[in-house]
Order: sequence, then C-alpha cells, then structure tokens
Amino acid sequence: MNKSHTYDHDSGRKITLSIFRYNPSNPASEPSFREYTLTETPGMTLYIALTKIYTSIDHDLSFDFVCRAGICGSCAMVVNGKPRLACKTLTSEFADARITLMPLPTFKHNKDLSVDTGNWMNAMSLKVESWIHSKEQTDISRIEKRVDPDTADEIFELDRCIECGICLASCSTRIMREDFIGAVGLNRVARFSIDPHDERTDEDFYELIGDDNGIFGCMSLMGCEDHCPKHLPLQSRIAYMRRKMVKV
Ligand code: SF4
Ligand code: FES
Repeated sequence: MNKSHTYDHDSGRKITLSIFRYNPSNPASEPSFREYTLTETPGMTLYIALTKIYTSIDHDLSFDFVCRAGICGSCAMVVNGKPRLACKTLTSEFADARITLMPLPTFKHNKDLSVDTGNWMNAMSLKVESWIHSKEQTDISRIEKRVDPDTADEIFELDRCIECGICLASCSTRIMREDFIGAVGLNRVARFSIDPHDERTDEDFYELIGDDNGIFGCMSLMGCEDHCPKHLPLQSRIAYMRRKMVKV
C-alpha cells in the first residue's frame, strides 16, 4: 500500500521520497512504501530530508545517524537501488526529483530504514580476532615500537573503514552466504597482516579466513570497491590476502 504526505515550505524544487516502511516487531505492520513530498533547500542531503520528514510530517519514521559527516557509518541505506550514506548524498543529484529509500540488505532489519550493523560488525571482529596478537608484555611506560612510515601509511589507509556495511550490501556472495565476512572482514585481516606489532603468521590467518566464508568466497565482482564511500582499495587487499593464503 502506498501512502502520500506533503511538507509545504517556501519556493524551491519539490522532491518526492518513497520510503520503505515496516516494523518487524509489530505483528500488525506490513511492508509498504510511503511517499513524502517536500521542498528542496540548498545543499540538502538525504539525512536533512529525512530529518525534515521526521520532525514535520512523520514522527514514527526510523532511520540511523550519529555524525552527519560520513564518519560513523550509521546512515547507510539503499538509495534508488544503490547502497550509499544518507548524510553524504545530495538530493540535487537526482534530476527527476524522485528518490526511493530502502534499508540495507543482509543485516537484521530493525524498522523502516534502520538495520543492526553493530552486532554483525562485533561478531566479525571477534571471528577474525581483530586485535594485535603479541607475546610481548605491554608496558605503557615505554615508547611505542617504531613503524616504518610507508607501512604506517598503508595501515592507516585500511583503518579508514567506517564499518558502514555498504560493501556487504553490495556483495553477491554475502547475499547468498550468511556467514561470509565480506570485504570489511577481509580488509581487517589485511590490516593486521601488515602490522609489524602483530606476530601472527600466514598459517594463523589461514585458520581464520581460509575457507568459502573468508578469502575463497570472494568472486571479485567489485561491488564492494565500487560502492565503498571511503574508496578503500578493497579488491587489491583481497587479492593480496588471497595470494598469501593460497601459498599456505
Ligand atoms: S570497507 Fe568501505 S563499504 Fe565496507 S564497511 Fe568499510 S567503509 Fe563501509
Ligand atoms: S551519519 Fe555518520 S556516516 Fe552518515
């Protein structure tokens, strides 16, 4: 069923957002799209449009956000069929003024545009043992071990992941295979494998990702890298780990 609501404001282009509505925890709720028409303002992002809808039209609409600056990864959703960050997407990008919003697939659906990426990311972090493994006793009074600047840059580049889940929502393997750790998980392993503080061997990493739910599940379809909002070099990192793992 489609329902339609309008928010009238000054002059400006009228845009229509068609938003997926469903509350899985309410037995009376049925999946539907609801349409909202509002006036576009200069520099309007989807996050701003959703906030206007929430404050002025429909206080029951659920969506996630924290930083509004492309840093926290909370506001990922499917925008006209492509996973994107709502806070970094301008409404002016859509020439026909019609925008369809759906929740990210592959994650537990909370309500409307809200999904639970946090519990999945936490489980993935535990699965790939996402922390430095070292036999050395930590002594916080000592100066940290020096790292070659090029290696530090490489680690920093991979650490830019904001755990938005867009790579998983863009991944056919992940859609078919629930336990696949996806580009975000493989990128995390690649990050620790180049960190000189981490004493794990390739054999140790193989134990974590040497199967079809890990490095051998990737079909190199590139959806992850095409859509990653932080433009991480996901495919080259996956290829790098795959080369290492086939040698084990
Ligand atoms: S790798 Fe990119 S798309 Fe995937 S979770 Fe990290 S920032 Fe998001
Ligand atoms: S609200 Fe934090 S990335 Fe969009």
